[in-house]
Amino acid sequence: MSEWKGKNALVTGASYGIGEAFARRLASDGANLILTARSLDRLDALANDLSARYSVNINVIESDLALPTSPDEIFRETEARGIDVDLLINNAGFGAVGDFVDLPLVRQLEMIQVNVNALVALSHLYLQPMIERRAGAIIQVASTASFQGVPYMTVYAATKAFVLCFSEGLWIECKEYGVRVLALCPGPTATQFQAVAGTSRRRNPQKMQRPEEVVEVGLKALTEERGVVISGFSNRAMVTAERFIPRSMVTQIAAKVFRPFSTGADA
Ligand SMILES: NC(=O)c1ccc[n+]([C@@H]2O[C@H](COP(=O)([O-])OP(=O)(O)OC[C@H]3O[C@@H](n4cnc5c(N)ncnc54)[C@H](OP(=O)(O)O)[C@@H]3O)[C@@H](O)[C@H]2O)c1
Repeated sequence: MSEWKGKNALVTGASYGIGEAFARRLASDGANLILTARSLDRLDALANDLSARYSVNINVIESDLALPTSPDEIFRETEARGIDVDLLINNAGFGAVGDFVDLPLVRQLEMIQVNVNALVALSHLYLQPMIERRAGAIIQVASTASFQGVPYMTVYAATKAFVLCFSEGLWIECKEYGVRVLALCPGPTATQFQAVAGTSRRRNPQKMQRPEEVVEVGLKALTEERGVVISGFSNRAMVTAERFIPRSMVTQIAAKVFRPFSTGADA
């Protein structure tokens, strides 16, 4: 039986991709859910589908995490509905592909707000009651981009490096209170992510991980009380190999992989 049966799990970015896969998996495990994202229609459809299939309670909170007030509003909403969050999954996030100087600054600052600031704020808000209860867990969705600079996804990789480092620190700090914190690092995964990021490189979805596989890896690593897990054998191999190569070389290889086809540099 899943440890989350009858517990309350809050998933950010539950409307698509990895977040939706977390919601589906946790509902099938018997967890009650709090689903948040901007796409209310998709959250409502998901909630209706899951409530029809499983005997779980599902709450939907429409929220734009690019707004600095949103984490506090989500927290106050769960308090008002009398929900103790046992598992927080900080999954919402997005990337943008292109030269840093060409990408709109406002979009990149929004990325920092969603990928970093909202994640820190939600962690701070929900950790306090978890620590009081001496129970609970947080999964922070980081990335294989956390492990090196990634030219042409420069701000995105920096946000994910933050998430990794932040989560590793919290993992140790929270251990003594019986609260688990895990950085889950997926590599390329077949979701909306690539389209939202505006990549010009077409990846074969068959060669990417499925979001369900990422979720499986994350939930298993949580039971093992690990601080960091990389999803997928080839992603783990890549990150391991990087440790034996000079960092400057790793960054140059990443530049070759991520350079958009449309830049003058390709010509
Ligand atoms: N797919 C990959 O290749 C990959 C690899 C490594 C890491 N990741 C990470 O995995 C996480 C999930 O991404 P995904 O692959 O599932 O991508 P996705 O299919 O694009 O889903 C992203 C989710 O984040 C939500 N989101 C985006 N901006 C938001 C905002 N301003 N406020 C609230 N929610 C927002 C979206 O919901 P709404 O649009 O409805 O708001 C959506 O539910 C992200 O943190 C991403 O960085 C993905």
